[in-house]
Order: sequence, then structure tokens, then C-alpha cells
Amino acid sequence: MKHLLDWLDVDEASWTQCIQDALLHGLDRQKDAGLHKGKSVALVFFNDSLRTRVSMELAAGSLGAQPVTVTPGSGSWGFSWEKGKPMNGTEAEHIQEAVGVLSRYADAIGVRLFASGTDLQADMTDARLRQFTSYSDVPVLNLESASRHPCQALADAAVLTNHFGGRPQTKKLVLSWTYHPKALPMAVPHSTLLMASRLGMDVTLARPQGFELDPVVMDSARRAAAAHGGSIRETDDLAAAADGAQIIYAKSWGASLRYSDPDGESIRRDSQRNWRITSQLMSATNDAHFMHCLPVRRGVVVDDEVIDGPRTLHLDQAEYRLHAQKAILNWLWDQPSMTSSGT
Ligand code: CP
Repeated sequence: MKHLLDWLDVDEASWTQCIQDALLHGLDRQKDAGLHKGKSVALVFFNDSLRTRVSMELAAGSLGAQPVTVTPGSGSWGFSWEKGKPMNGTEAEHIQEAVGVLSRYADAIGVRLFASGTDLQADMTDARLRQFTSYSDVPVLNLESASRHPCQALADAAVLTNHFGGRPQTKKLVLSWTYHPKALPMAVPHSTLLMASRLGMDVTLARPQGFELDPVVMDSARRAAAAHGGSIRETDDLAAAADGAQIIYAKSWGASLRYSDPDGESIRRDSQRNWRITSQLMSATNDAHFMHCLPVRRGVVVDDEVIDGPRTLHLDQAEYRLHAQKAILNWLWDQPSMTSSGT
């Protein structure tokens, strides 16, 4: 069974092919129109979304497939996750039946399911998302889980490939932690780090002490960078990291301390409000472009002059979500057009 939980599970040829297919969809929005006529995809959103939901629904429709969006606990039954326990709580439907039913209806199941924030090990291994794959008879697509956001990663890989004329290797990307009033999940920074490493970029992870990413992800990123001619550096000095940067990719996430001491994490995060992308910081770079997956808090994560300036790529990233979703559906449904694109 082919699933997309994390690009690390996908071979190099398919990853590269998906980037190329996303780029082709960016050039021609009618490409593959109607290719998947008769297919359908169930989109299960446990969490809010603008880009992922809209781009996925439109991408499926453009390819001729019918998307159906389900929001558990709000318009459809809430799901129970425990096995072997009487369901005496408020949830009416067990995940096992829910996924079994959806996989009888649809040809793929997309899932957005953020971190619990209570069980670090379960979140880092995407334990709940993996329950979907264990009960599904059709491909499962990660629409952002506790620990990964492969759809965003593919869109960003296409944007970077396009931006650097097809050669993002050894270009300098700084993935910068930024202050946020909430302890956000690590899915985007994890997937961004892995994506940029796999493109062979020279990546610097800039974050305050205590905001390290999952060590398993760091190890995977180092291996990917080494295999693709790139590098990984880690620092708590953002100004030094910005020196020579060609991309500043801003993202906020909570410290792993949130799992053991949420109040302590909040205090630690609040003491780092100066981690914001400013014009002054950008002027120290090598004419860097600004990236963010959105949604973004203006004046908190990034200053208006930066995000409104000429060197921002955030709307390109959002646009490429549409093209990337089409490439992912093509790959999941294994259509010959993926290998006959001519690229
Ligand atoms: N970047 C992203 O996934 O956006 P949404 O949360 O709006 O889907």
C-alpha cells in the first residue's frame, strides 16, 4: 500500500519526479485535467486549514477526482482512539470503523492531525496518523501531522528549485525559529529541514536554547545533506546565521519542554520575543528571500516591511501548494503521466 506520511519513506526518483510534476503543473494549470475522473479522496481535518484544504479540494477537482471533506467532532462524529476500552466517553465512532468506512468509499484518505502536545514520543512518531494507515485499504496522505508536513515540503521544494533556476544545491538557507504566542507543532520545521537537506542546500537551523528539533529528524537531515552535497549547521545566534543567507525561512514552534512543563515552556518562549524577522536582519543577508508556510502573524513573526517587500516568496509557496497536491495525487494514484512528462 502506497502512503505519503513523510518524504523520507519515498525513493529519490519519485521525490524528484514529484518536484518536476509540481513545476509542470505550475506552468500549465490544465495539465492532467480530468486524469483521475471517477476517483475520490476523503479529507479528514481534525484541525483548521486554509491552504491545505482549499488547494487539496481544488487539485482533486481539477484532476477529475471528487474530494469530500470531513471534520470529526464538528459535523461528523468524534473519533475514539483507544483499543480494548469501552467507549463510554463523548466520542461515538471508533477510528477503526471510521477509516474502514472511508476506505470503502474513497480512493485515498487525506488526514490533518496536529500534535497532541501531551505525549512527545507519540507525537514525534505520528502514532495517531499511523493508526489511519493500519486501518485503511487505500493510500493515506499526510495533510500535516504532529511531526511532518510533506505537502508543504513538496511545494517549498518546487519553489526553491524554480527560484534557483533548477539548482538549489549549496544555496544558503536559514531556517529560523521565530517567537509566537502559542507553542506550535514541529511538523513544518521538521519537513523544511529534511526537504532543504535533500535538495543539497547549506542549511542553518537558528533557534534559541531549548528549541531544538527532534534529534531523529536532525540525524536524518544530516545524512540527507551529506548524501546530496549539502550541510547542516545549528546555532542560537540568528544574526550570525543570517550573514550570507540567500533564504530566510521563518517558522515558530514550541519547545519540547511543553510536554513536561507547559508553564515553563511558555515562560521560556515569552522571553524570546526578539526572535522576529526584521528589515535590519534581512539587510545582513546576501539579498535573502523571505519564506513562510503561512498563516503568519505580522509584527510578531515578521515585520510588515519584510513580508510586503520585493524579496518575499510566501505567496509563491501558497500557490505551489495547489501544484504540489496535484503531483502528490498523481504519484499516489500512480498515473503514467508522471513518467511521460518530458522533464
Ligand atoms: N501552510 C499550511 O498548511 O496552511 P494551512 O494550515 O492553512 O493549511
